[in-house]
Amino acid sequence: MFTKLTSEDIQHFKHIVGDTWVSVQQEDLLHYGSDETEDLNFPPEVVIKPRTPLEIAAIMQWAHARYIPVTPMGARTGLSGGALPVFGGIALSMERFNRILNIDERNLQVTTEPGVITEVLQEAVKAKGLFYPPDPASKGSCFIGGNVSENSGGPKAVKYGVVKDYVLNLEVVLPDGEIIQTGANVLKNATGYNLTQLLVGSEGTLGIITKIVLRLIPYPQRDFLMLIPFGSATDACAAVSAIFQAGITPSAMEFMERDAIEFVLMHNPDLHMDLPADVQAHLLVEVDGNDEEILMRDCEKIAEVVSAYHAGEMLFAQSEREKQDLWRIRRKVGEAVKQHSVYKEEDTVVPRAELPALLKGVKETGLKYGFRSVCYGHAGDGNLHVNILRGDLSDHAWQTTLTEGIREIFQLVVQLGGTISGEHGIGWVQKPFMPIAFSSRQLQLFKHIKAVFDPKGILNPGKVID
Ligand code: LAC
Ligand code: ZN
Repeated sequence: MFTKLTSEDIQHFKHIVGDTWVSVQQEDLLHYGSDETEDLNFPPEVVIKPRTPLEIAAIMQWAHARYIPVTPMGARTGLSGGALPVFGGIALSMERFNRILNIDERNLQVTTEPGVITEVLQEAVKAKGLFYPPDPASKGSCFIGGNVSENSGGPKAVKYGVVKDYVLNLEVVLPDGEIIQTGANVLKNATGYNLTQLLVGSEGTLGIITKIVLRLIPYPQRDFLMLIPFGSATDACAAVSAIFQAGITPSAMEFMERDAIEFVLMHNPDLHMDLPADVQAHLLVEVDGNDEEILMRDCEKIAEVVSAYHAGEMLFAQSEREKQDLWRIRRKVGEAVKQHSVYKEEDTVVPRAELPALLKGVKETGLKYGFRSVCYGHAGDGNLHVNILRGDLSDHAWQTTLTEGIREIFQLVVQLGGTISGEHGIGWVQKPFMPIAFSSRQLQLFKHIKAVFDPKGILNPGKVID
């Protein structure tokens, strides 16, 4: 269905971007054939690293005319295989789009290229007293463009919202090479269909994002962080919605099963935490704002609420260093589990009061199908990451039996009013499960939308929908 690349194609791409930025070296093809999803690798036929929207436009015009598949990619930290070149073709790396173009302090906005590392962007605006809250665990390496493409979340989402809540406007190269803006640099916009939000979370299937305008907020001046141990993971999950019901909106509300922390400690000897034998789970809770007294009262209230759920003695972080170490433990869970074993990452999300039922269901399904899972995540959002370890499962169990187990977990998620990805996207690996979350009519609408943007289906083919 797609055209294989010829030496004429390669010559043409070199002409567009310069020889240095086009590679057909075997090691590059392998390198750009993977992201952080399981152990998957789909080498492209060429890696191209453009520097300008016009270069991308020229590449797309050629690819469009010749039916060449193009897979846009950022830092390739994704967990659903969205950046895998599953049909070969062009790996279009956005790594040279790495400039923050303008921090507009008058309007509290930043305009950036997509290849800027999220944490670099956050630090740059923080230096001006401004806050861009969405902070995926991989913030030190992921790109802001990937975050927009996946509509990423992270711990702060519970109070501040996810990436979509900050994107005002995008510059996008369409699959046929035309360059458009999706909206305007304004906080309110009731002007026509919302193309900006359609592009957010579209996983590189509708257009290639070349410029991003984000809104910012003033940086909160104070924060407190508490680590709360529980003798039962179900109690920890049940305490989550009780805290919100008590009238508190924490700036982070993270859940970690005992195993999650054990893996981190095992693989990071520089990190330490007391883990008494009777502790089965923790909540890591942060509150932030500008008024220390109000925050202290919130902390006291949280302590009161969790005591009804048999919480153990909580650790109140005393220094910046202690806070950072607790956050490092939390952020390293995924990486530590991967160091331990290849795993499948399920990014379940339910209304937060349903978390105990979800966790129970996940564990029961694990027992039924014989797999071990490590659960952790953004409990305040009802967003539970379920890492299913390969361990010594046979190929058959890993590829076939396990799929049934995952299907059951997703069916439960939908029954509980949730859906099959909170922040990691559908990409390549979750695509088979889309009919659990959507009717055939809904899926048909998706296909029509895709066809409007990309009638030839050359942009990131094989992702999200077939
Ligand atoms: C996390 C990533 C995996 O929350 O989303 O650690
Ligand atoms: Zn997460």
